[in-house]
Amino acid sequence: MADILDWSGSKLEKLDMATFETRAGEMADRLRREVADGKLPFLSMPYLDNLLTQLEELKGFLKQFDHMLLLGIGGSALGARALQQAFFPRQDQPCHDGPWLWIADNVDAYALESYMAKLPPEKTVVVTVSKSGGTIETVGQYFIMKEWMQRKLGDSWSKHMLLVTDEKQGFLREEVNRYGITSLPVPDNLGGRYSVLSAVGLIPAVFLGIDVPMLVKGAREMADALANPALDGDKLSRLPSFHLAAWGNALMKAGFDELIFFAYIPLWASWGDWFAQLWAESIGKEGKGSQPIPAIGVTDQHSVNQMFLDGKRNKACLFLTCPKLPAGPKFPTDLPDKFDYVRGKDFGELIQAEGLGTRMALQKNGVPLVEIRLEYDDARQAGKMIVLLGAATILTGWLMDINPLDQPAVELGKRLAKARLGADGLTEETADLNAFLTSQRDEREF
Ligand code: PA5
Repeated sequence: MADILDWSGSKLEKLDMATFETRAGEMADRLRREVADGKLPFLSMPYLDNLLTQLEELKGFLKQFDHMLLLGIGGSALGARALQQAFFPRQDQPCHDGPWLWIADNVDAYALESYMAKLPPEKTVVVTVSKSGGTIETVGQYFIMKEWMQRKLGDSWSKHMLLVTDEKQGFLREEVNRYGITSLPVPDNLGGRYSVLSAVGLIPAVFLGIDVPMLVKGAREMADALANPALDGDKLSRLPSFHLAAWGNALMKAGFDELIFFAYIPLWASWGDWFAQLWAESIGKEGKGSQPIPAIGVTDQHSVNQMFLDGKRNKACLFLTCPKLPAGPKFPTDLPDKFDYVRGKDFGELIQAEGLGTRMALQKNGVPLVEIRLEYDDARQAGKMIVLLGAATILTGWLMDINPLDQPAVELGKRLAKARLGADGLTEETADLNAFLTSQRDEREF
């Protein structure tokens, strides 16, 4: 067996897949050009060998700590959480005795206070991850945790901090230079949602003891073919990421404006959140795109699945499975007749049967579906999936003639929030804000 994309339910025959043939050459040219210009480190990974050496050196430093508190948001946190959930589940299980990774990716005063009240500062490292070094949700937490560390540990506070940020610029880089804080760079041109295989995701992975070499191996297996200087249209047409991109683009053109990511590997549920951010921030532009919907098998069979099956017929699905999940304990043999169909069977047979049932039901109900069937639920497969879906996302964006690497629309809300807090230089936003706040409201008590 191998890792498989099963296209049987994809409805390719009903979709306009013309771009798959007509634009393959153009897409290959662009990939070659952008890789050569250093614009796609997600695929070329020029930083990787150096990073692996730096991570090796960092192991001694990380060994001093039982707790890692990661401050970051969006692409600076979601990959780390997906890796943690998939490969280090024991933190959520009974009797765990470390190490612990805590990911603070929200403006949550309860959580921050609880970290300050309960984490032992002398056994904690605070890792602040921000490519720009200016994201207020992250830097705001950094200010508070820095002050906490200074209060608790005095002069040695900076030895409990680790900064992951742009190599040359930004506020956090200035902090590195000012206080000599240990830091690792986020490479140029590697945006948050494409950065899980940089220091952003790999520092927490090393801390938890996740198999980083295998993760990277899997990623390279997929990325090397895409970053190949001899890539042409013919070669690209044989790569699964381009096939997925042409499918994604054709689906949107046919009105499928929602894309479910249904994970039938329970521990991989958080990859759904990672994918949702990747797809939404990359593809949702200029009135185009499809809404990603993360879903968890089997849990969501008893929740949103009714809508998937019989709601508006606008949904397509990526369906993630692994036939080799653990068998688990056996069901007792003396079960009541009503449950005789599971007597003596492995608990694990249930999820495989339910995954099959749901996949068939979705297909029967007209949902175009590609199954991503992994041979193993291991780090190598995660590395492959990260690059497969990341590359498919970039190529889908290019086929849609939008830029998949930026996220300009999210800036407005951030500027308005800053204006609300009194930041300088936001005259227009401040005026908008005043008009909004003084406008006639329609507020009704309930
Ligand atoms: O994917 C992205 O680029 C964003 O979601 C960023 O990761 C997020 O906005 C955080 O940015 P930064 O790492 O600069 O703090």
